[in-house]
Amino acid sequence: MTNVFARFPQHSGSPGGARVADDPGHPREAPASAPSTASQSGHEQVVFCQDVQSGLRAIIAIYSTALGPSLGGTRFYPYPTEDAALADALNLSRAMAYKNALAGLDLGGGKAVIIGDPHRDKSEALLRAYGRFVQSLGGRYITACDIGTYSEDMDIVARECRYVTGRTVPNGGAGDSSILTAVGVFQGMRAAAQHLWGEASLAGRLVGVEGVGKVGHRLVEHLLEADARVVICDVNAEAAAQVLGQHPGIEVAESRTALLARPLDILAPCAMGGTLDDGTVAALSARIVCGGANNQLAHPGIEKMLADRGILYAPDYVVNAGGVVQVADELAGFSFERAAARAAEIFTTTKKIFALADEEGVPPAVAADRLAERRMAEVGRLRGIWLGS
Ligand SMILES: NC(=O)c1ccc[n+]([C@@H]2O[C@H](COP(=O)([O-])OP(=O)(O)OC[C@H]3O[C@@H](n4cnc5c(N)ncnc54)[C@H](O)[C@@H]3O)[C@@H](O)[C@H]2O)c1
Repeated sequence: MTNVFARFPQHSGSPGGARVADDPGHPREAPASAPSTASQSGHEQVVFCQDVQSGLRAIIAIYSTALGPSLGGTRFYPYPTEDAALADALNLSRAMAYKNALAGLDLGGGKAVIIGDPHRDKSEALLRAYGRFVQSLGGRYITACDIGTYSEDMDIVARECRYVTGRTVPNGGAGDSSILTAVGVFQGMRAAAQHLWGEASLAGRLVGVEGVGKVGHRLVEHLLEADARVVICDVNAEAAAQVLGQHPGIEVAESRTALLARPLDILAPCAMGGTLDDGTVAALSARIVCGGANNQLAHPGIEKMLADRGILYAPDYVVNAGGVVQVADELAGFSFERAAARAAEIFTTTKKIFALADEEGVPPAVAADRLAERRMAEVGRLRGIWLGS
């Protein structure tokens, strides 16, 4: 088991003896205001982990522990290059700090990536080696599931490590986090409706759901309960057919282009990041964009394009925080009711962000960043008050 810092031998001094990366390559799925390098962004700690025998190559990025230990999932993905993996870890960990701050959690932001194909490379030894690296950070980073990792994997990681959430229910975990992610997105959508149309009701509104996986299909259920009209699309025809089978009243668009061509009131991106690009924004009939996908804005400036077109964008990391709220609750001994109540607060937080955006004359994405930064600064500062011994 070895810490690998070969790429960044000249830096030192960050907490825990780890080094700070200074050449992350080009960000993928970067949030609109994401910096392009770790040195610009001020990540606290970036750790490269390698265990040659099990094939583990992982990067753990801690953006901030101003509000508490950093929490964020582990993405297991076949990144084409180490630069791409690093860029993803940097962007995702930063987004987690903002997400956790606005979710009102006493947690900072971190994220980890494991480089490899989860279907081919995942093994007990690799996950346990990874768990030992997470443990070695002494609680500065708490992990969870993300793309390519599941609750069962977290159970294995937890055999080597205390700092794990997202475990299976029999092991004290919160289970599938998409349950409260969908609740939060739904609440954010109601807040957007209230801000734009004067009432939170979604009854009769046509909502386009892009991607009906774990989050999207649950969102469809909430929308139908609220008497919204729903049109979906998914690159996986089987996933779309399954949702249609459960809810024959919905419509299936044959492609994303066909979905966007419908006279939507609301678009809910629930698939991959980067979905809101120039072409999409120009073509959009929807007046609200509110969905579960991470890092929806394809590049900086899109948030302004949306605002200029009169489209109300509910910032992704604000409305999709229900999942992290769900897994974070494990740290206090999981209570679904407590976590659900906190996820429902996303309604109030989203409204607050729209109000601040109007007040300060900025797009909601900028207002959200400001609010998160304010909490990190104001509450994080309190740790400077000496408590005595
Ligand atoms: N699961 C959570 O708790 C959670 C929490 C926060 C954010 N998110 C984000 O929400 C998004 C969805 O997560 P999920 O857990 O539902 O993932 P998932 O893999 O279960 O579902 C994604 C769905 O999108 C479909 N899809 C992929 N590309 C598409 C495209 N171009 N057009 C249409 N459909 C497409 C896939 O076929 C799949 O059905 C991701 O961006 C994820 O990072 C998820």
